[in-house]
Amino acid sequence: MAGKDRSGGIDTPSLKMNSILTADHNELDGLLEEVFKALGNHDQPEIYKTLDIFWARLAMHIRAEHLHLFKAILQMEDKIEPGVRDSVKSTIAKLRVDHDFFVRELAAAIKIVRDLIFFNQDPEEKLPLVRIKVRAIVELLRTHNDTEENEIYPMAEALVDESDHSEMNDLIRSELNKLPPRFDGDRSGRTNLAISILLEGRS
Ligand SMILES: [Fe+2]
Ligand SMILES: [Fe+2]
Repeated sequence: MAGKDRSGGIDTPSLKMNSILTADHNELDGLLEEVFKALGNHDQPEIYKTLDIFWARLAMHIRAEHLHLFKAILQMEDKIEPGVRDSVKSTIAKLRVDHDFFVRELAAAIKIVRDLIFFNQDPEEKLPLVRIKVRAIVELLRTHNDTEENEIYPMAEALVDESDHSEMNDLIRSELNKLPPRFDGDRSGRTNLAISILLEGRS
């Protein structure tokens, strides 16, 4: 599990490249548990908060993978055995499609909750729609993360020169620490200025 610096950011200089992203998968799983807890309690502001931080943290994770990991693998494809090169490239293409699905479905789920709160819609009608979307994300995330942890992260680690690992770690860590300002530095998402403004506007 990744360590935390004083601001709650990831600060794990000794971890390997794949360990940083795997630890982030585990943290994201923890945030998903909070989403399900909030859904179980029918607590609308809490559902909004937990979904919003999960969405933001997953987007940061995805950005780190696109900008640094996938890019590094594709730039060094000549070093991959010809027999497996196409399969690695198609695996990365599939992971990108999964990322688009996660971002799109989370945006849609958050919009449903925002409209539910703001327009006083019927929770009995709307919350099941949110549940369906979150369950579909969880389902796909399971195989997605397995593929990354067992195939793609080790592949990147093997391809990138050991002398460049620490620089790659810094780049990944820096993406994972770019929390949007509305969370005010709180990686748990409990401080969420967007929901506070939304609720103030309602009263
Ligand atoms: Fe991913
Ligand atoms: Fe990942």
